[in-house]
Amino acid sequence: MKSKKNERRGKFIVFEGLDGSGTTTQSKLLGQYLEKQNWPVLNTSEPTQGPMGLILRLLLTNRLIFNSRPSEQGNQELEILSNSSIALLFAADRLDHIQHTILPKIQDGVIVICERYYFSSYAYQMGKDSKNLKWLQTINSRCIQPDLTIYLNTSLAVCNKRRFTNRWYQDLYEKPEILEQVARNYEHVVQRMKKTMPVEIVDGTPNEKVVFENIIQIIQQRFPEMFPNSSLFSENQ
Ligand code: TMP
Repeated sequence: MKSKKNERRGKFIVFEGLDGSGTTTQSKLLGQYLEKQNWPVLNTSEPTQGPMGLILRLLLTNRLIFNSRPSEQGNQELEILSNSSIALLFAADRLDHIQHTILPKIQDGVIVICERYYFSSYAYQMGKDSKNLKWLQTINSRCIQPDLTIYLNTSLAVCNKRRFTNRWYQDLYEKPEILEQVARNYEHVVQRMKKTMPVEIVDGTPNEKVVFENIIQIIQQRFPEMFPNSSLFSENQ
């Protein structure tokens, strides 16, 4: 069959959610499904493999810490970058990602599926004060808007269970009190953003097949032009 590449602009679809919510599994499943429909697909993620992304990976795995100067009492603290510096690094990584990967691919007709984007910065770097959202939006204001953001709403208990099964390390944010705050932030951000941009909330708690069926239905409704032949919706194709 003739490739659908270059016939029109591609699409930019983002998956968001807590660690363990299913974003990796579902973005892969969607990529494989669309490739079977003969669409050119790129699966990508943030933080990226680029220069800023590499610094962020060191930070996330707690390998970017330094010993502060001992206080007069002799206490020495381990420090990491401030939340604002981390947010700026994520925004810089995102702009680099857009310029060198996302935009060229979309312009080439590719369906770009990205795991995490600016909602992750809003949820993870916002902290306890929702007033920080405005600044986070400002530093991300040059980032292109996705054609669709799918937020996988998965309970913290399920996320924790999946993470402990699949991961050998714990990242900087994987502490119960932080993740509870991040979950609240995601809820706040998603409810707010869906008023002005294409956002879908999908229950990420059921098994991966059920979640994926719901996602395919959404993709079908949002992008009917991608599926001119309704038989294409059969999952086995
Ligand atoms: P992951 O590769 O397992 O999804 O982990 C990425 C981590 O980076 C995850 O804890 C969320 C965090 N993160 C942010 O804090 N801000 C961001 O903008 C992005 C993209 C990720």
